[in-house]
Amino acid sequence: MFNKSIRSKNLLVTGGAGFIGSHVIRRLVNKYPEYHIYNLDALTYAGNLENLIDIEGKENYTFLRGSITDEDYVSTIFKEYRFEGVIHLAAESHVDRSITDPLAFAKTNILGTMLLLNAFRALWKDNWKGKRFYHISTDEVYGSLGKTGFFEETTPYDPNSPYSASKASSDHFVRAYGETYNIPYVISNCSNNYGANQFPEKLIPLFINNIIHNRPLPVYGDGNYTRDWLYVIDHAIAIDLVFHKGINKETYNIGGFNEWKNIDLVKLLCQHMDEKLGREKGGSEQLITYVKDRPGHDLRYAIDASKINRDLGWSPTVTFEEGLSKTIDWYLANEDWLNNVTSGAYQQYYELQYQ
Ligand code: NAD
Ligand code: TYD
Repeated sequence: MFNKSIRSKNLLVTGGAGFIGSHVIRRLVNKYPEYHIYNLDALTYAGNLENLIDIEGKENYTFLRGSITDEDYVSTIFKEYRFEGVIHLAAESHVDRSITDPLAFAKTNILGTMLLLNAFRALWKDNWKGKRFYHISTDEVYGSLGKTGFFEETTPYDPNSPYSASKASSDHFVRAYGETYNIPYVISNCSNNYGANQFPEKLIPLFINNIIHNRPLPVYGDGNYTRDWLYVIDHAIAIDLVFHKGINKETYNIGGFNEWKNIDLVKLLCQHMDEKLGREKGGSEQLITYVKDRPGHDLRYAIDASKINRDLGWSPTVTFEEGLSKTIDWYLANEDWLNNVTSGAYQQYYELQYQ
């Protein structure tokens, strides 16, 4: 392997071909020509290099195909490229899949994170000046809120799904490596993201795709579950800030100050879709179908993002109305992308999940 950019600072982003990772990579590659960004991604069903087509030829960008669970490969690339910073997003990320196959989540999210930490530690030993391991996590580690209250950085972890348990565990390992081996780390826990390039298994892109194809919209339980939604570009901006300005060993909660009950969100989405597709008002809402609830379904997530706002000056730049409209426009303009990712294995997943 040849290091193209000996004079630049080499950063590793894991999971960069996925939804959030691709927005992070685009931002870093365009904004920091002095960095060389390496994107390590296994290209699972959720990883797609089409997400990065606009930057794939850039001088300061290299794609590395491999798994964070492949110890030899991880160790080889750390030795070869001497990454000074790691922004770790690679994960199995879908709660429903974690209910079907929890072990896959333990392997990728826990073991994979530990192997990255081990390789980082082995490379730099005690020479930590200017180095940073940034672990991207989720608000789901905090469990479920009742009707009131917010998740703060000090809220005790109380995960309920195999996905959130695996993320909680990986957060603990990052912290433990920081305490035990002095690895300089930061962690952020973000609320539900939405935007372009999200795989259509998550609520918003799944329902956009189903509305386009006049398929039922499977609302779990009574639909009275609440999530806080953040536009993905605002998450990418926050990640850039935390990576550069966050304080070592700190956690930052990132959220949209934007809570929606699922059913209200779905109805709003239906209204937008009717307008954009030139359908009769109320047409898409008729597709709403209440289905069996998700086991262990968390009632409500809500983030208190005042720490990142106060300490790093971050707040969302895009309103929900604007972000949702842009997101729908992207999916309508990129039907080929949607068709590509929903062919093949997706059909089997869909049959099993929504039989
Ligand atoms: P995603 O599922 O869209 O993408 C995950 C990426 O990781 C894919 O490109 C996939 O190929 C890659 N990957 C999976 N297993 C891998 C492995 N073993 N080795 C290397 N690459 C592997 O996920 P996302 O929604 O972009 O989430 C990214 C990160 O952000 C995750 O850590 C997730 O827990 C966290 N997060 C997501 C949200 C959200 O709403 N999507 C919210 C908060 C935090
Ligand atoms: P999802 O997008 O899977 O994110 P998360 O589980 O990480 O919050 O789901 C968002 C909400 O939408 C959650 O309360 C579950 C609900 N949901 C449905 O009602 N139907 C669906 O088909 C999906 C995928 C989710």
